Amino acid sequence: MPSLVLTAPAKLNLYLEVLGRRADGFHDLEMVFQTLTLADVVEVTWEPGGMGTVCTCDDPTLPTGTGNLAWRAAEAFRVAAGLTGGLRVAVTKRIPHGAGLGGGSSDAASVLLALQRLTGAPLAESQLAQVALDLGSDVPFFLMGGTAHARGRGEILTALPPVVTSTLTVVMPPVVLPTPRVFSAMTDQERGPRPLRGAAWATQALQDLPSLLFNRLSDPAVRCCPEVGQVLEHLGRQGFPCLMSGSGAACFALGPVAVPPGWRSWTTTTGPGAGVALPS
Ligand code: C5P
Repeated sequence: MPSLVLTAPAKLNLYLEVLGRRADGFHDLEMVFQTLTLADVVEVTWEPGGMGTVCTCDDPTLPTGTGNLAWRAAEAFRVAAGLTGGLRVAVTKRIPHGAGLGGGSSDAASVLLALQRLTGAPLAESQLAQVALDLGSDVPFFLMGGTAHARGRGEILTALPPVVTSTLTVVMPPVVLPTPRVFSAMTDQERGPRPLRGAAWATQALQDLPSLLFNRLSDPAVRCCPEVGQVLEHLGRQGFPCLMSGSGAACFALGPVAVPPGWRSWTTTTGPGAGVALPS
């Protein structure tokens, strides 16, 4: 049975600016993404003689059917590629969900990359990118991973020179912050409009990583969930540059930080691009 095991890395947003509201209800964003060594593991099996799509997950609190982005990715690939047979997806979760670390999006992208390899790459790169975007704004980035500048909803991507850090600490208060809630909590002023700075600016700005760190969604997230503010204050007091990732609630510091009981934390560092295969 053709099978492939891939890592599905978490991401941080080293920079996230809201450029303005769009007619389709989304916002135009400018971001710098970075993948981490913190990663889920996704095993994908194609059973040419089988039927249906089955997803399993070691975290019993997560859905395994239509509510799971990895399951939806397998189904979307099946439709786009006209694939027949059975698909099995087994997800081992290490990335917290509702965190702004892109765990579900990364799992979905790994399913797409694995199926491309297992089935002889039936989708053109542009088709794969469209399937990814239809699944979610962060999914296209996870087809490439590494360090990237993103604009649009997050799908117009430019690879940037790799960022090498020593220890990064990711800290998560015991809350789940839904992305639409944070976008809805923005003030008119926070929504923009403001101009794009561009990939050349981001390449330059990465030379001094602490001064690049910025997230426009941080203030609305703190208004929705004061615990995010407490995490950022704690990290700042340790003397390391820190930021919330994505729409939260996870935050990170550029250094090794001890955290009080009640907050989960992960020691990690910047990681490689997407589609890294593990022995099955
Ligand atoms: O694309 P995704 O499913 O990740 O988006 C979740 C929600 O986040 C959207 O429904 C929207 O409320 C908000 N969002 C946005 N602009 C973006 C990305 C997400 O307004 N570029």
